[in-house]
Amino acid sequence: MIFSIILAAGEGTRMKSKLPKVMHKICGKPLLSHVINTAKASGIDKNIVVIGKGGNTVMDTIKEDVFFVEQPMGEGVPYGTGFAVIQAKDYIEDHSHVIILYGDTPLITSNTIKNIIEFHKKGNYEATVLSADFDDPTGYGRIIRDQNGNVLAIVEHKDANEQERDIKEINSGIYCFNGKSLKLALDRLNNNNAQNEYYITDAIKILNDLGLKVGGYKIQDSEEILGINSRFQLSEAERIMRKRINNRHMDNGITMLNPDNTYIDDDVTIGRDTIIYPGAILEGKTSIGEDCIIGQNSRIVDSIIGNKVDIQISTILESKVDDNAHIGPYAYLRPNSEIGKNVKVGDFVEVKNSKIDDNSKASHLSYIGDAYVGKGVNIGCGVVFVNYDGKKKHKTTVQDNAFIGCNVNLISPVEVEEGAYIAAGSTITDKVPKDSLSIARAKQVNKEGWVAKKGLKK
Ligand code: UD1
Ligand code: CA
Repeated sequence: MIFSIILAAGEGTRMKSKLPKVMHKICGKPLLSHVINTAKASGIDKNIVVIGKGGNTVMDTIKEDVFFVEQPMGEGVPYGTGFAVIQAKDYIEDHSHVIILYGDTPLITSNTIKNIIEFHKKGNYEATVLSADFDDPTGYGRIIRDQNGNVLAIVEHKDANEQERDIKEINSGIYCFNGKSLKLALDRLNNNNAQNEYYITDAIKILNDLGLKVGGYKIQDSEEILGINSRFQLSEAERIMRKRINNRHMDNGITMLNPDNTYIDDDVTIGRDTIIYPGAILEGKTSIGEDCIIGQNSRIVDSIIGNKVDIQISTILESKVDDNAHIGPYAYLRPNSEIGKNVKVGDFVEVKNSKIDDNSKASHLSYIGDAYVGKGVNIGCGVVFVNYDGKKKHKTTVQDNAFIGCNVNLISPVEVEEGAYIAAGSTITDKVPKDSLSIARAKQVNKEGWVAKKGLKK
């Protein structure tokens, strides 16, 4: 059995944040969720997360199925990566493999985790360290190897002598342990070092002293082990993750005019031959069909978009848009809107909590709120669904093939029946019967010669 211990109790002071560090997001998901998902994707089903200060926020936010253990924090309480692992000791079974990960190192891939497990098993090691060569290893633990390549110890930067500091191979902080050996080592950790912390890195020398063999698995792509300690590193990780996500979509047959300026969250799905223009932001659980055009600076959040949909500079939140619809430019679909097939929602049209059925059009400058709009309806320029009376919201119904003239106010609750016409400028307060014309405005009066009589003629 393989399980993971994910360390996430560190203070993260350099983030200068009210949030626990691992709750900061990249590509729409908390750092910790990325790590948990990667562990699961590498076949690790049981994941133990060590949390500290702000642990309640972490437990409330993380939806993935994991076990939490709390590391006590405060003045005089021990600290360090070793102390963090000790908190999870009760979970460690003798005949298991334990992968140790960091909650603030979200770019690690499931491939690498699988590779280190394989390397560990093949070499018959009791522990294996994931390492990398860094041009500038300052601040990291250094890997000390013997002539055969076995790892003898890890020396922290602050505890290293000059010769050790010259070593370029650094400790990523990710390990694979045999359960029994890890427990042996945990029982022998102490805090006699420069920082008075319990170091998990000391486990390596302890195992060597017990005559047990430790391996070092070096990765080439050091991006994977980028740990996040600052907002700058958070932005770096976001950039790298974004690039991976965009590359994945391009590999799947999506065109991006400028992937460096296209922002897609991890869980978004996109169909083939969809074209995405610069500045598009696709968030949350959004899914986009095939052959769509996602125009520049469109933002789509938690929404479902069908096939052949054309979206120009628009914002779509928690809504559904069916095939062949045209949205925008500058349309605003607010939560719980449902746009049917071949519908046009044009410039400066706002829709909220409404369904607009197939083949209908609201081409310009309208507000449609709390409404059902049937099939083949034409909503003229400047129509307002007046859904709010100052206290309550009410519902408007417009049945199939109705024609709503320009600048009409529909004072809800109200119904426009099938095939009815409403004259431009009308303010409608009562039901409009089927196939009738409704005019609700003052009759036009022309006063001939009025300008001259008033002495206003130029
Ligand atoms: C650690 C390693 C170092 C390695 C580096 C890689 C040790 C002693 N050193 O150093 O060899 O090169 O990572 O980034 O392990 N954490 C807890 N509880 C604690 C302390 C830390 O959960 O009491 C967690 C942090 O949230 C973080 C991780 O452990 O996710 C690493 O802690 P950090 O303080 O960043 O370790 P480093 O000093 O950078
Ligand atoms: Ca660190």
